[in-house]
Amino acid sequence: MSALSHSLVPQVVRVPTLLARSVAATIPAVTTACRKMATAAEPPKKTHGNLPDQDRIFTNLYGNFDWTLKGAMRRGDWYRTKDILGKGKDWIINEMKASGMRGRGGAGFPTGLKWSFMNKPLDGRPRYLVVNADEGEPQTCKDREILRHDPHKLIEGCLIAGYTMQANAAWIYVRGEFYNEIANLQYAINEAYKAGFIGKNACGSGWDFDVFVHPGAGAYICGEETALIESLEGKQGKPRLKPPFPADVGVFGCPTTVNNVETIAAAPEILRRGGAWFASFGRDRNRGTKLFAISGHVNTPCVVEEEMSMPLRELIEKHGGGVRGGWDNLLAIIPGGSSVPLIPKNVAENVLMDYDSLVDNKSGLGTGAILVMDKSVDIVKVISRYALFYKHESCGQCTPCREGTSWMASMMERFETGNGTPEEIDQLLEIGKQIEGHTICALGDAAAWPIQGLMRHFRPEVERRMAEYKSLRGAPNKATAIHSTF
Ligand SMILES: Cc1cc2nc3c(=O)[nH]c(=O)nc-3n(C[C@H](O)[C@H](O)[C@H](O)COP(=O)(O)O)c2cc1C
Ligand code: SF4
Repeated sequence: MSALSHSLVPQVVRVPTLLARSVAATIPAVTTACRKMATAAEPPKKTHGNLPDQDRIFTNLYGNFDWTLKGAMRRGDWYRTKDILGKGKDWIINEMKASGMRGRGGAGFPTGLKWSFMNKPLDGRPRYLVVNADEGEPQTCKDREILRHDPHKLIEGCLIAGYTMQANAAWIYVRGEFYNEIANLQYAINEAYKAGFIGKNACGSGWDFDVFVHPGAGAYICGEETALIESLEGKQGKPRLKPPFPADVGVFGCPTTVNNVETIAAAPEILRRGGAWFASFGRDRNRGTKLFAISGHVNTPCVVEEEMSMPLRELIEKHGGGVRGGWDNLLAIIPGGSSVPLIPKNVAENVLMDYDSLVDNKSGLGTGAILVMDKSVDIVKVISRYALFYKHESCGQCTPCREGTSWMASMMERFETGNGTPEEIDQLLEIGKQIEGHTICALGDAAAWPIQGLMRHFRPEVERRMAEYKSLRGAPNKATAIHSTF
């Protein structure tokens, strides 16, 4: 742990809780003297996980305690925030780099590096921090827990991140359906203004800082950072071509950084305890603690903070109460939100919940939202339903995504009943390849990956249905494709 950081660790009573895209080349290796950890190059060791309560950042995840300012301060929020700011933007950026934190919005971009893009001379334009609280992806449901049960962590994080970027304002873009979350967040913002923690001379730092909440209108694409910026400006949520990147031209043409709720809310505690403390969890390039959302066929679905690199099976058994009907009843898992390819039971058995292990197994950590499916599931139907979701959410700007997601959805709908031919499976995969990497934003990739995962692991099941269909009804009838609509 950094010596500097000791003095910033608050003397708080820790309240026990109930439960305990490829950017690899940009990820600096973080070394730590605190623990001996495996590196990505080493074979995975099953030594991660079982995070002790004293190492939790999100101590009110379940809303058991007072989420208002009084309760938040009792849990250590807003403790010596002025001193953190007093250490200066370079110190803050270096600690965030040392922590190894990678953005928790899905792409895993290193946070310290992202903040450093704003560390450039002022050019007369205002700067903005934008917090991405859109959380529109199926399976993902972690940020809302912070918004409603720990909003002060996010507001304090906004001040620190905003100050570091020389931004005088933050917008928190929340999906409009999160009505109660928005109410709690706004209440907490009002409290923070009243206490002098934000507003003029925030925390007595000499820095003026405003925080605004902006409800979205429920389109998944508005979670993509440049679509979010467009939406914030009052336009249709359609992603922008990059470059220019938001750090050069963001909201209203001004330098902007977009970060996920969890990323920003974790920052104050990381800075109080020191980057090395955070980096002591997880494997190299996969550092820290992380919120995992476990849903589907488990006995106790939950959102839980755990150590990165914890084995997936242990995570499900310890916090999700195990697979319904036992581990042997497991069919497949989608480990990182709806956008990542599924993994079957034999892969899920040995994989670690981190970026590298999941990429090694042809999937991804994404947002850390785990969907567990037991053998009762019609896996073709699940992926068909996801294909329909991506078709519906495509903004329509790029031809491969607009047309491709429609084709994929209607083919998948036929494949549910076996109405298709094995050659069409190859056509479907080819459509995915033509979308992947050929679009303005990553929604196109996200639409292709679930289907690739299905065919990688369950193609025999799709072909079995096709053979059955043929034996019962004769040749497939493409005309029966409804071309799915909502
Ligand atoms: C279609 C699409 C939807 C997205 N939705 C979200 C979202 O709801 N929340 C989020 O934080 N990031 C979302 N992202 C990722 C953001 O574009 C961006 O990478 C992220 O907000 C950056 O924050 P981070 O660096 O803290 O991860 C989405 C990306 C895509 C392509
Ligand atoms: S990939 Fe799809 S969602 Fe993204 S900009 Fe292109 S059409 Fe819109």
